[in-house]
Amino acid sequence: MSESKPTKIFAVANQKGGVGKTTTTISLSAALAQLGFRVLVVDLDPQGNATTGVGVDARQFERSMYDVLLNDVPLVDVVEPTGFNNLFVAPATLDLAAVEQELTAVISRELRLKRALESVDGDFDYVFIDCPPSLGLITINAFAAATDIMVPVQCEFYALEGLTQLQRIVDLVQKNLNASLRISKVVLTMYDPRNTLTLDVAKEVKRHFPEELCSTVIPRTVRLAEAPSFGQPITSFDPASKGAKAYVALAEEISNG
Ligand SMILES: Nc1ncnc2c1ncn2[C@@H]1O[C@H](COP(=O)(O)OP(=O)(O)OP(=O)(O)O)[C@@H](O)[C@H]1O
Ligand SMILES: [Mg+2]
Repeated sequence: MSESKPTKIFAVANQKGGVGKTTTTISLSAALAQLGFRVLVVDLDPQGNATTGVGVDARQFERSMYDVLLNDVPLVDVVEPTGFNNLFVAPATLDLAAVEQELTAVISRELRLKRALESVDGDFDYVFIDCPPSLGLITINAFAAATDIMVPVQCEFYALEGLTQLQRIVDLVQKNLNASLRISKVVLTMYDPRNTLTLDVAKEVKRHFPEELCSTVIPRTVRLAEAPSFGQPITSFDPASKGAKAYVALAEEISNG
């Protein structure tokens, strides 16, 4: 672990729903925290699944990411420790759903998260932003604030559909708000090698993202789907499981550059 390295900020994004964004955010963050890195999960999905997934009940707090984005509440005031070492969360609540509308009238509406994260610069080794399944202002805020984009791709039919649109938004943000932004990691999720479709999708993704595709793949496993309802990352819920091992391997791959 290196104190001097600048914080890596990953926007975990894919406007396709249910591809493993939240599962990857939670599990990878927890795995990195377990490796000794200080990690902040920023929950930008009104559903708040990343928040509950790390065992935090956002309803007990007065303020959430909604207030950071709209009411200038400092990010440090909403960051909460989790029950897990080195792992912190900036919770989302349902009112985030209104942000998309309400932000449109706000000055520097695309840069609200970027400004907020500047205030915790140096406090964390990694920040993972769990994006909602859309390419609206919330996701744009994540892209403007991020150093990197991580795209989970579910190995199924139409997996690559939409990635062109995603790339177009990334290009726009890169040109106008965040010059060094790029899709730097693509992760295959719900990988099932017995399924020929999985292998076809993997090949196709490799062709489009030869450099970006992570060599660690995340298997389809029911334990990963079960963990959130216990408010535990897979690395605590079932550390010996295939899913936990995969995310630890991914954490090692990511932190080794
Ligand atoms: N590797 C996996 N194996 C089995 N089930 C998984 C795996 N990854 C995720 N799931 C399950 O698939 C569903 C969708 O995953 P997840 O919520 O992480 O996707 P998402 O992209 O965040 O969805 P949304 O777009 O709705 O935010 C969840 O029920 C989750 O538990
Ligand atoms: Mg999600």
